[in-house]
Amino acid sequence: MKNIALVGFMGTGKSTIAALLSKKLQVGYVDLDRKIEEKEGMRIVDIFSQKGEPYFRKVEKDIVAKIFRRENKIIACGGGVVLDDENVESIKKSGFMICLEATPEVILKRTKSYKHRPLLNVGDPELKIYELLKKRKPYYAKADYTVDTSGLSTHEVVSVILSWLEGKT
Ligand code: S3P
Repeated sequence: MKNIALVGFMGTGKSTIAALLSKKLQVGYVDLDRKIEEKEGMRIVDIFSQKGEPYFRKVEKDIVAKIFRRENKIIACGGGVVLDDENVESIKKSGFMICLEATPEVILKRTKSYKHRPLLNVGDPELKIYELLKKRKPYYAKADYTVDTSGLSTHEVVSVILSWLEGKT
């Protein structure tokens, strides 16, 4: 099976949906952020504060290159993976790149009680969400398929994705 990579902004449900898809399709599931934390022996938030975002992006890129060399996996990507063209190329070469999206209001609601996302640990997370979404729009638009998760349950998102995949195989 080709890889199924889930990309999209923070709080769009990539990890949850990847785990559910993995169960449904009976294939392994990888969370890139967890891989980065394992490799570095640190939490993402500490990598950002102690080593900086460019260092994080470099580690992220190394992990993407390694993970996407193989097929047969569901992969939940961090929200910024698509900012690097070579990352997008590796993802698309190995399978499908599916983007999960949600409205800024839903993203704010889903992310506001968690502090593990360094980019949103700012005075005005709502403004930051708007700014980042605007900047990243063209990058997320490179996906093969996009699902707006705003009004959907996790099970609905999974079935929308499975229906789309059926048409592809
Ligand atoms: C990031 C998203 C995070 C994590 C890091 C940077 C981003 O992953 O990789 O904090 O640039 O959007 P999630 O999208 O899984 O929260």
